[in-house]
Amino acid sequence: MKVEFMSESITTTNLLDNLSTAVVVLNSELIVQYANHAAQDVFERSLNLLIGCSLNHFIASSSLDFERFQNSMEFGVVYSDSEVTFKFNDGRHTQADVSITSILDNQLLVEIRLVEQQKKISQENRQWAQQQAASELVRGLAHEIKNPLGGIRGAAQLLAKQLHSDELEEFTQVIIEQSDRLTNLVDRLLGPNLRPSFGWYNVHQVLEKVCTLVRLDPSHNIAITRDYDPSIPDVYLDQDMMQQATLNIVRNSVQVLSEQQNVVGKIQIITRIERQVIIHGACFPLCVKIQIIDNGPGIPVELKNTLFYPMVTSKKEGNGLGLSISQTLIGHHRGKIEVDSWPGRTEFILYIPIDKKDP
Ligand SMILES: Nc1ncnc2c1ncn2[C@@H]1O[C@H](COP(=O)(O)OP(=O)(O)O)[C@@H](O)[C@H]1O
Ligand SMILES: [Mg+2]
Repeated sequence: MKVEFMSESITTTNLLDNLSTAVVVLNSELIVQYANHAAQDVFERSLNLLIGCSLNHFIASSSLDFERFQNSMEFGVVYSDSEVTFKFNDGRHTQADVSITSILDNQLLVEIRLVEQQKKISQENRQWAQQQAASELVRGLAHEIKNPLGGIRGAAQLLAKQLHSDELEEFTQVIIEQSDRLTNLVDRLLGPNLRPSFGWYNVHQVLEKVCTLVRLDPSHNIAITRDYDPSIPDVYLDQDMMQQATLNIVRNSVQVLSEQQNVVGKIQIITRIERQVIIHGACFPLCVKIQIIDNGPGIPVELKNTLFYPMVTSKKEGNGLGLSISQTLIGHHRGKIEVDSWPGRTEFILYIPIDKKDP
């Protein structure tokens, strides 16, 4: 099956599998004849498990208007409905825009476009732009503060040499100490000054290092369970940056869990392959997905919208830079971080594209 007028190498299957819309072909008994990758994601089943099964097998209920649906089959009209709710047999809920077209031999072509996905993408893009703007503002300010600080410190040192009174030297010492403190803060605001060194590495190697670092911390005894997909290919990454990015997230879980009184803290790290991931407007056919899940109290509601901004923290001793730095570092890999958090379960999801391009 080839679309000759486009390119010899583009097959229709290839095209369909690259769509972000789920496409399913049903026969008149609503038995699945075909499902593209996006549809396999919606139903969370592989093609083999979908083909030959009735739709009722996966969908417990839906707000589809079945009468109109049947009409479309009988009279060959296009049926479409927006924000249809689906409840799957495994308990998941989702909302989608659906169009159904009758095609050859009494077959139905069903297109499903998840509403959440659409909303999430525009929300994500907006948040990303805001975070970028905030980070840039902070970075710009940090640079402006850093430059004169060197001068102030130097002048205080010179002054100290001219002064021959212990009492006055104490003042110059204060100037020097406070300048150093500010320089330190500003350096942290500017983020780690790592020289990039990208190469093809296994993500699990990086994650294992993070686990070891966490395990070596004697202040807690929180267990980390790992569930890795060993078939994930090497990814073009910078090991130090990836390690720092994930460590910041895992450390937050450790910190929040070690403060919990009645619950045994647990952290889970899961890796999987994910297809057709949209990252800041671009669709990547193949990504590594790293989930870091803890059973802590969840992210404070008032932080949710600004979580990745620099200096946003709920901790007395926190500097609020961990997640902002993770975000920047994952950005260097063209990836993204998603968060899903409620009391008892917080999940950070990192997506890193797997392809041959230089980030
Ligand atoms: N796993 C988590 N569970 C609950 N809250 C979290 C978690 N991860 C991050 N947070 C919240 O996000 C805030 C910002 O985190 P971060 O940027 O690392 O800065 P810091 O750790 O210095 O506070 C934390 O202060 C905390 O309130
Ligand atoms: Mg932190």
